[in-house]
Amino acid sequence: MAKLWGGRFTKETNKLVDSFTASISFDQKLAEEDIEGSLAHVQMLGECGIITSDEMEKIKSGLNTILKKLNTGEIEWQVQHEDIHMNIEKLLIDEIGPVGGKLHTGRSRNDQVATDMHLYLRKKTNVLITLLEKVQTALLDQAKGNIDTILPGYTHLQRAQPVSFAHHLLAYFWMFERDKERLQDSLKRINILPLGAGALAGTTFPIDRDRVAELLAFDDVYPNSMDAVSDRDFILEFLSIASILMVHMSRLSEEMVIWSSQEFQFIELDDAFCTGSSIMPQKKNPDVPELLRGKTGRVFGDLVSLLTVLKGLPLAYNKDLQEDKEGMFDTVETLEGSLTLLAPLLDTMVVNTDKMRKAVTQDYSNATDIADYLAVKGVPFREAHEIIGKIVIYAIEKGKYLLDLQMDEYKTFSPLFKEDVYEYLTPEHVVGARTSKGGTAAGQIEQQIKLAENHI
Ligand code: ARG
Repeated sequence: MAKLWGGRFTKETNKLVDSFTASISFDQKLAEEDIEGSLAHVQMLGECGIITSDEMEKIKSGLNTILKKLNTGEIEWQVQHEDIHMNIEKLLIDEIGPVGGKLHTGRSRNDQVATDMHLYLRKKTNVLITLLEKVQTALLDQAKGNIDTILPGYTHLQRAQPVSFAHHLLAYFWMFERDKERLQDSLKRINILPLGAGALAGTTFPIDRDRVAELLAFDDVYPNSMDAVSDRDFILEFLSIASILMVHMSRLSEEMVIWSSQEFQFIELDDAFCTGSSIMPQKKNPDVPELLRGKTGRVFGDLVSLLTVLKGLPLAYNKDLQEDKEGMFDTVETLEGSLTLLAPLLDTMVVNTDKMRKAVTQDYSNATDIADYLAVKGVPFREAHEIIGKIVIYAIEKGKYLLDLQMDEYKTFSPLFKEDVYEYLTPEHVVGARTSKGGTAAGQIEQQIKLAENHI
């Protein structure tokens, strides 16, 4: 079959080369963006008098027909036409005749494909921001209902100090907030138009790039045509943001896996979001958070792949750049799927308040508070720490927790201990006493919730 670029060739392309170099199997996802970009380009060509308005109208109507056929699933992509750009151009020429060949005036596939990617990523970034907000809302709703739910807070996965479950969940709210800010900020760099850069050096036609930018709602045009066609920073940036976002989802997922284990039983995931075992009838597995955690790997992989593709590429366009797409699509789809599931997973999660509360009465996580108790009475904190360390060893030996020790036992360690120490050591007091800004006391959490509500 004749190639759109076949003029200089005297031989048919080897079939293996056709399939090796073709990108139509995956870049067909850019069909709508490709047509959108072409509609703006042809409009500008007409307005600038580069083609007649009759030609412009014919091409526009041909492109709109292709768009309709696309939506009704009538189009068959041809691997011989390599990619989405040439497939659509070929369809256009078939649809309206040789005048369709005027569409590519003053344009190259190099600035065209870059434009398609900008349009695609702009659309998807906005979708992802909305999905991220749904996850934030789910976290916020669970937090609101769990201000007074106390569970052990951990460092090194060892019981550290009790915290409010709302506080724990809100920590993730702020991680996702930073992800959202990064996505929003990246739109500044996504929303720049490459089209009009030509193959690399610009074009001899009197085009109006600003007009195309206006038609496609871009904020600006790339100031350098060579940069325009070879820049993939905006995709690298997206994959970096996505990787950080996956880290956050993965950490939260890991906690959900741990919390829902028989050993913890802090939460129960909804049956609708769990799966069973083909052999062990008792099993209810947290497959969804496990997969969220597992999918992090492929997103990191997509980032590292593109970093590797770009490293060492000379200016301007190189065919290597075609490798920018599959990883980007994969990451977009992974994020869409993951965020879409995470929101209802959090919404339907049942919190076992009693199990969490019981856990904090069976540990020594109030030890810091007795050290603080002595420090308030004037004992230097370092000395207080030493004394309480001894008390903890003593209590462990006796098989008791700190609240179980008698006053005469306390007195053997320091005469400063009084009856009020018991009140000081209750989980409620321990959590409620952390009133410093950003701390886990209820008042501070309420402030956080107010602040968080301003962000969604
Ligand atoms: N399919 C190509 C890509 O995705 C489009 C650009 C091709 N340009 C070229 N000069 N071969 O990168």
